[in-house]
Amino acid sequence: MKKFKRYLVTSALPYANGPVHIGHLAGVYVPSDIYVRYLRLRGEDVIWVCGSDEHGVPITIKARNEGITPQDVVDKYHELIKESFARLGMSFDIYSRTTSEMHAKTASDFFRTLYDNGKFIEQTTMQYYDEEAGTFLADRYIVGTCPHCQNDRAYGDQCEKCGSTLNATDLINPRSAITGSKPVMKETTHWYLPLNEYEEFLRQWILEGHKEWKANVYGQCKSWLDLGLQPRAVSRDLDWGIPVPVKGAEGKVLYVWFDAPIGYISATKELTPDWEKYWKSEDTKMVHFIGKDNIVFHCIVFPSMLKAHGGYILPENVPANEFLNLEGDKISTSRNWAVWLHEYLDEFPGKEDVLRYVLCANAPETKDNDFTWKDFQTRNNNELVAVLGNFVNRALVLTDKYFEGKVPAAGELTDYDRDTLSELPAIKKSLEENIENYRFREALKDAMAVARLGNKYLADTEPWKVIKSDQTRVATILNLSLQITANLAIAIEPFMPFTSAKILKMLDAQPFGWDHLGTFDILPVGHKLGKAELLFEKIEDSVVEKQLKKLEDTKKANLAREAGKKAEPQKENISFDDFGRMDIRVSTILAAEKIAKTKKLLKLTIDTGIDKREIVSGIAEYYTPEELVGRQVLVLVNLEPRELKGVLSKGMILMAADATGKLVLLSPGDKVNNGAIVG
Ligand code: MF3
Ligand code: ZN
Repeated sequence: MKKFKRYLVTSALPYANGPVHIGHLAGVYVPSDIYVRYLRLRGEDVIWVCGSDEHGVPITIKARNEGITPQDVVDKYHELIKESFARLGMSFDIYSRTTSEMHAKTASDFFRTLYDNGKFIEQTTMQYYDEEAGTFLADRYIVGTCPHCQNDRAYGDQCEKCGSTLNATDLINPRSAITGSKPVMKETTHWYLPLNEYEEFLRQWILEGHKEWKANVYGQCKSWLDLGLQPRAVSRDLDWGIPVPVKGAEGKVLYVWFDAPIGYISATKELTPDWEKYWKSEDTKMVHFIGKDNIVFHCIVFPSMLKAHGGYILPENVPANEFLNLEGDKISTSRNWAVWLHEYLDEFPGKEDVLRYVLCANAPETKDNDFTWKDFQTRNNNELVAVLGNFVNRALVLTDKYFEGKVPAAGELTDYDRDTLSELPAIKKSLEENIENYRFREALKDAMAVARLGNKYLADTEPWKVIKSDQTRVATILNLSLQITANLAIAIEPFMPFTSAKILKMLDAQPFGWDHLGTFDILPVGHKLGKAELLFEKIEDSVVEKQLKKLEDTKKANLAREAGKKAEPQKENISFDDFGRMDIRVSTILAAEKIAKTKKLLKLTIDTGIDKREIVSGIAEYYTPEELVGRQVLVLVNLEPRELKGVLSKGMILMAADATGKLVLLSPGDKVNNGAIVG
């Protein structure tokens, strides 16, 4: 690992429009903290920069909804995020923010350099404009139906349901997120980075030069490049952001994804006057930790920006993770479906390392993964309490009991002793390789292997029995157990720094340094140990139940909110004639049966008053055939017949969706004859 003289580690700047949750932590911050702590232990020159991403449309929308300023929003969340990160032991060298003056200047100068060197194209296009609000509708200010999956709440830049990247003009039925009105097209000028001109460079650099990148990252880059790159706008018509530093660009700001990654540079500048050493020297290994939704920006866009600017190094690796789900559902800030870090810290004081442990053990490194409270409990009770805590406690308590808390001298080693110790160097090697290759789950298993080794050693050697016959042998056993404990304190530090510190305190020792890992004379004979404490405590079922109840309540609150939500805006006017052409009749369902090999479809026989006919309806999920027979319903009888699953369906039964999305039949309030016209 000596190829590089120093490391520059960055972690995606979290948006300051909400608190941090376990998804952010497992995907980005826990792995980067492990990586950086490891490098520091090895004595490497490393800095880790991060900060809050404080621009972008979601922040302005939140401010508008809450009747406060965007600055209020980011001030509140920046503090909350920064503080909760610190409480979890995130060891950033700097946690800055993109509303800092240093950042405004750095980002502005960066833009200006590209502008002056002719790296942008200036283009005037028609964009959506909300006449009622008097503003252009950038990114999330425009909503509409996704052309790919029909989600009717897709945004102008992305559909969250199917994950497609969109342009505002792709949306079907676009409407303003501010006023709900139908936008008009209006001319506006913006600056574009012609990514297409960087395709060859990116192909060489990534597809040829970085085949070692994680498969998910490499694969996404390849598919972007294979699809062909387009010029990307780097400015927006907004009043929140860093002003475009060009004459005549009033009312325009830098696109948030242009300024945010420059935040890594600004933060480094704030940290050290020596910042150029980290950004401009080929001896520096730069690593970006991000989530998978950030891959294109960190592997394609930002590197193109750096290349266009010149003088900057490119990332050596971009170990992006997949997503973490919560109890089987996608984590969502807007639906409050998350475990929020600040709440966890308040509810589980002293259990910072438990969360760090569970999130690392479960990190979505190669595929999406699920966090469940049950698994949290199981890992705590069966791994941290039963293995790690148990081992350290026994080693210390027994030493206290038999040797007055002083490290006893080891006598002659048995073959079993030697076999046990010989595992440590191998564990160390594996741990190093795993961390250096961003396999943190495996690395954590290695660190835990030290505890397992110690636990097994004590169980097999049974010093509490041997003490009756052979005190010298017990001295050896406990000496080795304490040396393994010291090894453990080193190995777990990157993952569980609080626990590592507690063990050191119990051993009454200073941090040992990475080089001691795999050695067996760390603690000198006669050294007086500190007081034994419990490292972890059992988590009871009631704690898990309480958390599950909290999530259950969130689900209920979401449903209630949906129900109270404003109805969809009215459709365009139709003529009286248009309405008159629809023939809706009161009808009675005579028979209902499931259509074989389908989940949702029922074949209904109905009496329309005109005739008896069959209609195929997708309501099997909501009603059983028995519930339907005999019911009066409303039927659009002159809808063009359609063949569905071999049945000619003649008409449509009218239904409405309730708050949960469940379809409900509409029936006349009083008894009416079949065939009565609705109108
Ligand atoms: N705020 C972005 C997100 O949460 C990440 C920005 S990373 C940066 O997805 F590089 F742009 F800073
Ligand atoms: Zn979609």
